[in-house]
Amino acid sequence: MITEFSFANKLLQVAKGLATYVVPTNWYLSRSGRGGSTNDAGYCYCVWLRHLRTLEKFGWNPVQKKICELGPGNSIGVGIAALLSGAESYTGLDAVPYSTVEQKAQITKIINDLTLLFQKRAPIPQPEQYPQIVPQLEDYSFPSWILAEVDSLANLTATKTSLIEGLDGPERNPRLKYLAPYQHIDLSGYSRSYDAIFSQAVFEHIGNPTQTYHLIFDLLKPGGLSWHVIDFRSHGLSADWNGHWTYPEWLWSLVVGHRQFFLNRIPLSAHLALATQAGFEVEGVMTYAEGEHQTLAKKSRLNPTQFAKPFDRMSREDASTVSGMIFLKKPAAEGETETSHCGLN
Ligand SMILES: C[S@@+](CC[C@H](N)C(=O)[O-])C[C@H]1O[C@@H](n2cnc3c(N)ncnc32)[C@H](O)[C@@H]1O
Repeated sequence: MITEFSFANKLLQVAKGLATYVVPTNWYLSRSGRGGSTNDAGYCYCVWLRHLRTLEKFGWNPVQKKICELGPGNSIGVGIAALLSGAESYTGLDAVPYSTVEQKAQITKIINDLTLLFQKRAPIPQPEQYPQIVPQLEDYSFPSWILAEVDSLANLTATKTSLIEGLDGPERNPRLKYLAPYQHIDLSGYSRSYDAIFSQAVFEHIGNPTQTYHLIFDLLKPGGLSWHVIDFRSHGLSADWNGHWTYPEWLWSLVVGHRQFFLNRIPLSAHLALATQAGFEVEGVMTYAEGEHQTLAKKSRLNPTQFAKPFDRMSREDASTVSGMIFLKKPAAEGETETSHCGLN
């Protein structure tokens, strides 16, 4: 039964892949892989504060940090939340320009909405509200230490005002930069300039993750921290969360079709290996296993013996990891001072 269904489903996915050669790419971008929304302050607040909570164990705080996000999509509010919690600057680097100057009204609204959530010290949204978001937490209360660090309400209002005043388009604001598509921009001037680089639901889509881990390594200051939430699920391609690993390479290339980015199907251990090869030290890994968090994925009916090569040789841990958050550190070069407050010594 599963076999018949999965055969029909594979044909459907191949047909969709082939359609990408005739339907404009923008049509797909407007419908898939976009995460949250510029209008959804709750999503952006949820993502940023959940990240901050998980970073507590490293003693890391965002105050006066230069922060960069890879692949903000249309959730630039995550970066605005970082600024409201004391970051000195935020740069969003995306392969696709989702945020545009024309969105000034929307971005102003999200700045206002996010400021209100911080002012109210609203609790972090729970899985009932955003069931798919990782990390999930034990404690969803507002992390009051953030506002203590940024000198509370006065600073929030000042930050809000300066962000709105600087909004001739996010790329014109010195504290809020947005570079997309960054592959067409010379980033050599940004080398060793960020205290932290993070991403949410991006690394599973990146076509050349080797190059990207090297890029973020280069952009980070020595001692800088990088963390990434990676979603290993099939993104709706199959009834079971791990069905994408059953496609042989030749069939998968038809499914991908002409799409600029899709799913790279790389499991957790391969990400850690690539990050290590780029020079990172792995400081921590949080994993979410199938069946453990019902909102993320039920236990699959497929097992690795049904996966295509080379996925059939996957470790048991990789094969059951639905989602993960990895914490990487760029070592401080010999004789150099670490970036301040990294807290990872
Ligand atoms: C699923 S969306 C996630 C968006 C956002 N982080 C969120 O949580 O809503 C994936 C994002 O990754 C971006 N992306 C894909 N390939 C990329 C690359 N090589 N470098 C940077 N961003 C990339 C896409 O343009 C898109 O914005």
